[in-house]
This record gives sequence, C-alpha cells and structure tokens, in this order.
Amino acid sequence: MAKKILIFDTTLRDGEQSPGASLTSSEKLLIAKQLAKLGVDIIEAGFPITSESDFESVKQIAEEVKGPIICGLARAMKGDIDRAWEAVKYAERPRIHTFVATSQIHIDKKLRKSQDEVIEMVIEAVRHAKSLCSDVEFSPEDAARTDIRYMCSVVEAAINAGATTINIPDTVGYAEPEEFGNRIKGVFENLGGLIDYHKVVISVHCHDDLGLSVANSLAGVMNGATQVECTINGIGERAGNASLEEFVMNLKTRSDYFADYYTSINTKEIFATSQMVSNLTGLLVQRNKAIVGRNAFAHEAGIHQHGMLKDKKTYEIMDASDVGWRGEHIVIGKHSGRHAVENTLSEMGYGLDAVQIDSVMERIKTLADKSKEVVKEDIIAIATDVLGQVASNEEIVKLVDYSISSGNEKQTSACVVLQVNGEEKKGSSQGVGPVDALSKAITGLTYPLTLKEYHLNAITGGTNALAHVTILVEDDSGTIFSADGISEDIVKASALALVKGLNKAWNFLKK
Ligand code: KIV
Ligand code: ZN
Repeated sequence: MAKKILIFDTTLRDGEQSPGASLTSSEKLLIAKQLAKLGVDIIEAGFPITSESDFESVKQIAEEVKGPIICGLARAMKGDIDRAWEAVKYAERPRIHTFVATSQIHIDKKLRKSQDEVIEMVIEAVRHAKSLCSDVEFSPEDAARTDIRYMCSVVEAAINAGATTINIPDTVGYAEPEEFGNRIKGVFENLGGLIDYHKVVISVHCHDDLGLSVANSLAGVMNGATQVECTINGIGERAGNASLEEFVMNLKTRSDYFADYYTSINTKEIFATSQMVSNLTGLLVQRNKAIVGRNAFAHEAGIHQHGMLKDKKTYEIMDASDVGWRGEHIVIGKHSGRHAVENTLSEMGYGLDAVQIDSVMERIKTLADKSKEVVKEDIIAIATDVLGQVASNEEIVKLVDYSISSGNEKQTSACVVLQVNGEEKKGSSQGVGPVDALSKAITGLTYPLTLKEYHLNAITGGTNALAHVTILVEDDSGTIFSADGISEDIVKASALALVKGLNKAWNFLKK
C-alpha cells in the first residue's frame, strides 16, 4: 500500500529566517490560511521565544487556523519550550518542536558540552515538552555532519523520553543524496524496533547550499522517512530549504517512479500560494524556477511551439493547470464590480475584510481612471500592499508630497514634504539619481537609514505597469528592515517604500 508522506511546512519559521523576509502578523496569518487550503499536514508557525511579535503571531495562527497541526520551535531549554507551548496550546492539534546541535563542531564550538551532557539536555527537554504536549518533535541539529552512531544514541534517547517525530536535518546543506539516504536507512537499521513500537515518524529537513535539498529529501523518503520539511518557493536560511512545490510535484509527476508514496497536497493551490509568499515576503521567484517560475510553462523556441501545437506532451511533463498556473492575464477592468474583485482575491487566498476591500476598490478606481487596464496581477499587488500597510498607530511618518528635478546635464534633486508625528516638515537633497536624492531628503528629515538593496519590478509589463519597489534598509545599529511600495509611478513607489521602511525602523526603536 502506498505510504502517505506528511508535508511539514516551515515557510513561516525557517523561510522567514531568509535575509530580508520579515512578515507582519496579519501577513503570516494569511499565509497560514493559504497553507491550510494547500493541504499541508503541519505548519511550523514560528519560533515563539525569539520575540513578542513572533509569539503573538504563532498564538494567533494556533487560534484561527484549522486543519493542520500547528507547531512552534524551541531550543532544548525549559524557557523556550514553555513559551512555545503557551503559543501553540490553542491549536486543535498543537506540536512542540525542540532541537539541539549534535555534530562535533557544534558541540565543541557552540555548546561547549560533552556528548553525554548533550544527551542529558535532550532527555530533559523532550520530557518537559511531553509533560505539556502529547505531540513532540525532536531534531538533532546538523545531523548530516554528526557521527551516525552518536546521532542514533541521541535519537534513541529522544524517543525514550517521548518524542513522537524525529527529524534529521541537513542544517548546512552538506549531504549528497546517496549519503543522506544511507543515513536515514541507518536510523531504521539501528532503531527500527523502537521506531515501530512507539510509532515514531522519521522526518527529513534539508537545506539547499549545494542545490540538493529536494534530491536529498527524496532520498530520505526512499529510505523510510515519512515526513518532509520544506518551504514555499524554497525560501529559508542562506540558500533556502527544500522547495515544497518541487518535492510534491516530483512525487506526483513521477508517480511511476515514486509509486509507493503520495501527499495530501492540493497541487492546484501551488501557484496561488507561491505568488502570495513571494508578494508578501518581497522575495521574488526567479523566472526559471522549477514549477512556479514565470518561464516554467512558457515555450519560446519555435521547434517547441510546433511540437506543443501537435501534442502538449511533446515538451510538457506537467499540466500547468495541475499546479494552478494561469498564464493569461485576466482583465478585471474599470467596470468590474466589487464582487469580481472579491472573487479574484478569494480565489488567490486573500480573505480581506470589508474595510480592506474598500481600500483596494478605491485604488483600483484611481488606477483605472488613469486609463490603465487593471489586470488580476495589479489587484493582487494592491491587496498585498493594503495588507502590508503599517498600522495607523505605528505610522509616525507620512508622505505628503514630493518632487524630483533631473536632466541630462544637471544634478538630480528631490524635495519632500513629510508629516512626522503630526508635524509637517519640508526638506531637499541632491543625489546621483532620483532614488538617491529622495532617500537623502527623507532620511535627512527623520532618521539615518542606509538603503542596502533596491529592487524594481514592473508587475504587468509595459510602460504603464504598476511598479513594485522592494528595499532593505539598515539603521545605525545594523538592524535590517524590509519594506515595499506600489504605485504606477516608480519614484512614488520608491518614496512609499522608504517611508514604510522608516516607520518599521522607528517602531522597532520604540519597543
Ligand atoms: O536546519 C535546521 O537544522 C533547523 C532545525 C531547527 C530543524 O532548522
Ligand atoms: Zn533549517
């Protein structure tokens, strides 16, 4: 009988650890609801001890998202575990995931403990977690570089202490597929009786530093793992985690090869989920990314098009509609009513409240009045922007007005009018280009921030496209904030992104 492979999604925890990918609580909730619609089995909603806001958002997801198990991460420490439990205990099915490093390099350099002391930590942590929650996952961090015999002793101790899932992570993305598969096989060879007796799930969690995270996850499954930890679009620490969509579509597309395994993912929700995560995190999906990249189902070459017209299967191994990919730009148009907009948004997983819909409608109207054809992508971008707005009580700085002067032979200058704490301020600056001049004028009136990264994306193409500017700014303590702005004018989109970044930095400073 085919085995179900549990999909453990860590987009909101490991994925959110991607440099520059910070999400607000409402954005995390929206993604969690979409993950439930996608059919993931477990959502790792965050790492509650790390901040008050992470705690609150894990708690909110536990309270509001029905279906999947909701999991919170904790180091193998009592305080972390208590905090994780406080956040997840409201879920229909809560889980605590606790971990400690087990490779010699981590034990010596990071923990400065003996191997026996680490095993003691594992036993104490898992027992404590188990006293709070029946569903406990344990991970020996950097398992792929841990001596296999020692790793098995740690795993044995964790199972005896009550762990119900054992996750084997390749934390630094070092393993090769055959080697990683053999490690999973080794776990069953050494501890098969104990695993069967306690009905423990063996999981894999692979990072992509050598581009092998999905291959390693598949190797893990072929050697007995029945849970795979992954993220949407493969986002995560450094080079990222195994991509959910790639893993799932391997099992589905090559069901001849992977006949013994299946997942409960509703693959038709993959594209909407990918778009949502990309829009909300500001981490753009590379065009040629497998499964969800814009080019994944585009057949440009003449010879391919000829074959495609005769029979799609000549060059297409997956049906685009199986992953919910709709290549066409659906025009909503200025005469489309609220109902059409609401439908489009809910189809893409955006459950907005009435006030937010009003705001989206108003902006669509303004855009349409500027004789711009409003397409589905514009609406999603506007809705994302409305959701990502800084709460009104946190809007310390507001953009009132700006103007730019530039030319071939003259230096660019920017004038800005801001409202700062309710007081109007005017300032100006020169720069090497409009964004540089604007940035200097805005920060000159407020707070020193350095623009570290700037990306401009035309949402629908063409000269009248909506522009989406995503930036990373750094304050003088070295803290990085991500922000974005959307407008049909690229300079305005840049100014809005800068002001949003400023508000985020200022609110962070106040806390
Ligand atoms: O990569 C890793 O080791 C992790 C653990 C917390 C599972 O993310
Ligand atoms: Zn990880």
